[in-house]
Amino acid sequence: MLPSLTLQFLCYSSPFQRTHCLSTTTTTTSATSAAVCQSESSLRKTMDRLTENARLMIVSDLDHTMVDHHDPENLSLLRFNALWEANYRSNSLLVFSTGRSPTLYKELRKEKPMLTPDITIMSVGTEITYGNSMEPDNGWLDFLNQKWDRNIVSEETSKITELTLQSETEQRPHKLSFYVQKDKAEDIMRSLSSCLKERGLDVKIIYSGGMDLDILPQGAGKGQALAYLHEKFKAEGKLPKNTLVCGDSGNDAELFTIPDVHGVMVSNAMEELLQWHAIYAKNNPKIIHAKERCASGIIQAIGHFNLGPGISPRDVSDLSDSKLENFDPAYEVVKFYLFYERWRLAEIEKSELYMANMKAVCSKSGILVHPSGIEKHLHDCVDSLRACYGDKRGQPFRVWVDQVLPVQVGSDAWLVKFKKWEQSGGERVCCLTTALLSSKDVTVADGLTWVHVHQTWLNEASCNAGWLF
Ligand code: GLC
Ligand code: MG
Repeated sequence: MLPSLTLQFLCYSSPFQRTHCLSTTTTTTSATSAAVCQSESSLRKTMDRLTENARLMIVSDLDHTMVDHHDPENLSLLRFNALWEANYRSNSLLVFSTGRSPTLYKELRKEKPMLTPDITIMSVGTEITYGNSMEPDNGWLDFLNQKWDRNIVSEETSKITELTLQSETEQRPHKLSFYVQKDKAEDIMRSLSSCLKERGLDVKIIYSGGMDLDILPQGAGKGQALAYLHEKFKAEGKLPKNTLVCGDSGNDAELFTIPDVHGVMVSNAMEELLQWHAIYAKNNPKIIHAKERCASGIIQAIGHFNLGPGISPRDVSDLSDSKLENFDPAYEVVKFYLFYERWRLAEIEKSELYMANMKAVCSKSGILVHPSGIEKHLHDCVDSLRACYGDKRGQPFRVWVDQVLPVQVGSDAWLVKFKKWEQSGGERVCCLTTALLSSKDVTVADGLTWVHVHQTWLNEASCNAGWLF
């Protein structure tokens, strides 16, 4: 394929618009005006959680980037999760940027052990939401209304028989999506672009995954949405110290054009993205093509660019041996539940030493308020765990924690809130957990002591008779 055609193939619009889509300067400027007039309290909460500029902002695509659909055990995702919660959650920002609509995004979250992002960008950068409640950024929606009329797009596309409409859920206020055969895509994009221009619209047409064709307002797209977020953070003096963008397909290309970002194309990236990179970004040392697939490629990039800790606790076989300089409650929580998973899977030796260690890290008078409401001594819980050695051996059993957020409540005490997930076969349960951890009378090498744990089912359906802690 000729270089000039590759670009058009990926993201076709008029020459001016094409520059707009890929030139970093224009991207930032156009996003600014909309960014400045925004001040949502939901975004404020996201910003206020960080006491200083985020150490790292990861902006990752989901399908075939964060989520590996060819990895039924989700091992690379779980490796990333452990690394993020142990080392980044409290000082960094996790942003998911997906082509999926809110409906399909929520379905994916039910299928895969995904973390909760701080910001969710959906429908190819046309919808931005903040926090757990996914509060929409209405200013972004207003901005996208410029030179956009979905009825006209709908009218014009209905005349093209080669375009097959995607499911109803994927048709959004600022996104119309179709399937089109690879060999027809380029011509259709070219003719659509000029006819919509004649009708007074300014659109962006993106081809991804060798089959999906999205039509969006010109100002939309994953890259533009990121530029808009950067502007907002900058306006508050909270621009992240580093941003790492991660992707695998056509609609991710513009992420790599945002100024100053580091980028990783995962090893399994699609031809369309690799071709775009070969032509437009080959000499940019801040973009790598990872050797590893999906989330493992993201971990590889963190290490490659030196963006912070790069070893997932899941890759540490003897966790009792891990060296820390300071007490780290988030790391402690991740470590605790990794041990718990390994014990039940019999992936570690059945040694009384481990049980003695568990008892040592649980305060003698410590209590667990079990999600059923019953109070138990932490030491009795450890005894129950002893009896469960290997009870999940060879089974699809996984444990992960999400949104581990410690707050220091005294000179030697931390209150850590997190969601603890446990998946056994097809069943998946979660408890909102609050744990009081103390560093009183222990050294960093001993780790922190668990003083009190309180758990609540995330929802009724979570109630599970076999829940230990
Ligand atoms: C996701 C969306 C789809 C879109 C594609 C490429 O698969 O569900 O509507 O066309 O991403 O952006
Ligand atoms: Mg993808």
